[in-house]
Amino acid sequence: MGDLYGKVAVITGGTRGLGFGIARALSRAGAAVVVASRSQNSVDEAVQLVRSEGGQASGMVVDVANLEDMERLAHCAISKYDRLDIWVNNAGSSGPYGPTLELDPQDFNLIVRTNIIGVYYGSRTAMEYFIKQQSGKLINVLGRGYERPVPWQNAYGASKAWMLSFTKALANETKDSGVGVFAFNPGMVLTEMLTDVKVIEGAEERLTIFPTIVRMWARPAEIPAKKVVWLASAATDGKTGLLVNSFSPWVMLGGALKEGCRVLTNKPAKSDGIKIEAISPYKRDFAVKESD
Ligand SMILES: NC(=O)c1ccc[n+]([C@@H]2O[C@H](COP(=O)([O-])OP(=O)(O)OC[C@H]3O[C@@H](n4cnc5c(N)ncnc54)[C@H](OP(=O)(O)O)[C@@H]3O)[C@@H](O)[C@H]2O)c1
Repeated sequence: MGDLYGKVAVITGGTRGLGFGIARALSRAGAAVVVASRSQNSVDEAVQLVRSEGGQASGMVVDVANLEDMERLAHCAISKYDRLDIWVNNAGSSGPYGPTLELDPQDFNLIVRTNIIGVYYGSRTAMEYFIKQQSGKLINVLGRGYERPVPWQNAYGASKAWMLSFTKALANETKDSGVGVFAFNPGMVLTEMLTDVKVIEGAEERLTIFPTIVRMWARPAEIPAKKVVWLASAATDGKTGLLVNSFSPWVMLGGALKEGCRVLTNKPAKSDGIKIEAISPYKRDFAVKESD
């Protein structure tokens, strides 16, 4: 019997990548999981996979940037399993790599809607239940940029800095409620976010080193997911406000040494499966009216 037996967890973006890894790990630890994303097919597939491993799983199609969807999601968990104990705000969008001023405003908007509005809606929905029952674990998934600005991935990086600030402030405001509010940085994870990359034409050269970085430091989702299980467990009772990092200087060193050995021994690099697609920069002609 796992640490989370009898608990119920919602994972946004729980249908693939890191989110699915988290759903699977929480399920293996005994929790019933509710996964959510925008595609019915991937929701069904994720639910089936968890069930095929003997877990209890349900799913729902949602857009995290829609408050009613988030409320329906919480309601779904409670009506199916009678309780809600863990909520992971994992759904995220990274957008194309390139200069801030050449990013299509629609891409900027999508990042803000998913990584900021989505986390706000998810947090407020979960906290409403958690505060009433004086228990629960809210886990917000950070990413590159939470510590310092990220040129060429400005919108994504800034959204993660916002997320850390938001999570810490929320933890502070609710510190006497019995609820745990946590920020979690998974480090680089081998998912579509890393393997299907869009780059704005002209910035391609900056990504030359990217496959090497992925080879050195990206890890399968199962590794950071273990930390989420720990965060969701009784081990973090009374520790609200924690920032947990699954990426350490040791991971960096280990990855760099492995890559160094590969180069020194002339071993071919494993195929990384990374697709980098160049897209046009966003341009808009402002029609400036001349004054009469
Ligand atoms: N991969 C990394 O190296 C890495 C590193 C640090 C942090 N992270 C963070 O980890 C989280 C997961 O990333 P990932 O790499 O697993 O990404 P991913 O492979 O692109 O998966 C993202 C998940 O979120 C869902 N999603 C996206 N937008 C959504 C929306 N508006 N509403 C509902 N669901 C939505 C996606 O499903 P649909 O598209 O079907 O909706 C998918 O299930 C993100 O917050 C990311 O910033 C990732």
